[in-house]
Amino acid sequence: MQSSLAAAPTAAGEEYWTLVKRQFPLAEGLLYLNAANVCPSSRPVLDRHQEYLRDFHADPSFQNRDKYDAIQESLRGKLAKMLEAGPDEIAVTRNTSEGSNIVVNGLDLKAGDEIIITTHNHPSSNDSWKVRAKRHGLIVKEAAVPIPAASGQQLLDSIAGLITSRTKVLAVTHVTSTTGNRYPAQEIGRLARQRNIWYHLDGAQTFGAFDVSVKRIGCDSYAGSAHKWFMGPLEAGVLYVREERIAQLWPSIVTAKWQESQKGARKFEVYGQRDNPRIAAFEAGVDFIQLIGMAAIERRLGQLVTRLKDNLASIPEVHLKTSRDWQLSGGVVKFQVKGKATAALYDALYTKHRVALAQTASGESEGLRFSPHVYNSMEEMDRAAAIVRKLI
Ligand SMILES: Cc1ncc(COP(=O)(O)O)c(C=O)c1O
Repeated sequence: MQSSLAAAPTAAGEEYWTLVKRQFPLAEGLLYLNAANVCPSSRPVLDRHQEYLRDFHADPSFQNRDKYDAIQESLRGKLAKMLEAGPDEIAVTRNTSEGSNIVVNGLDLKAGDEIIITTHNHPSSNDSWKVRAKRHGLIVKEAAVPIPAASGQQLLDSIAGLITSRTKVLAVTHVTSTTGNRYPAQEIGRLARQRNIWYHLDGAQTFGAFDVSVKRIGCDSYAGSAHKWFMGPLEAGVLYVREERIAQLWPSIVTAKWQESQKGARKFEVYGQRDNPRIAAFEAGVDFIQLIGMAAIERRLGQLVTRLKDNLASIPEVHLKTSRDWQLSGGVVKFQVKGKATAALYDALYTKHRVALAQTASGESEGLRFSPHVYNSMEEMDRAAAIVRKLI
């Protein structure tokens, strides 16, 4: 199936993206708009996974499994290239939660040290920092999040205003899953570097969605999951740690194959026996993304969400919680419908119209969340909004 797909031409039109859509096994009639949570794997990923699962279980000998070391190293090299990092700066983890927790629990910190988070970080960042703070007497400061952000400067200021001489870590989300704010990652990187503060970027909503360069951003660590925008296997992820910082981070799990001399970020991925076929599928995921082109994927995502937001904004009862400015947002589109219960709309969208989405049932981020990806069409962006209009 993959061989019928070529790289995206510069001005790839609907015809090209229809070919991309055919690479996914999504059920006929399902309008899938929940990439921010889980994406379907492409057929090349599923095929590679199945092929290696069968091979593994047909012959689980050491000899037959020898090849997986080379596959993992090959994957590491490809992930490094994709994120503009060095291979020794890449750990193959199980998801964003794990990557972020490695940073939370691996840093040497003492009572009174300050950690800055934002109120819209995922619990894998916020709750884990609060648990660590409780254990070790750290002070966690939360930056308020505007809904939606008026400018990158506003987001930068919300973090910069909390920095003191005791600040040791900034833990920020590149694009939030709550209302889809895109943080000015590079500007935050400059600020953190000037103050020698560890800068961790949660990339759950950008890994596989944006053409991310950790070098350009200047973060100390970046975590992502393969099963979201990357369209890879479940329970696989990446953690980047900047070379100069690796020695400052303790591994959270130590078991067989651990050595003090472990090269670079490999020390963060020693978990005992791993699900090797999944790692092979992860590599197929990088190949699939590189075949289309990461920049082309990011461009297409921008076109899809812009069309979707324009459509939704034309409905008078819809209140968009995500900025319509692509530079201030990502693949997450959050909106609330005046006078309608969020939960009822959420149910009706799936049960009556087969639109798969997410919801936040209450609070400042309350609303419905659409998150399209490259397997969606422009026509689906129109149809989704038309269904919302019909339900009001
Ligand atoms: C911003 C953000 N960070 C972290 C996570 C956790 O991802 P995972 O469950 O793959 O570890 C999510 C999941 O939705 C997320 O949206």
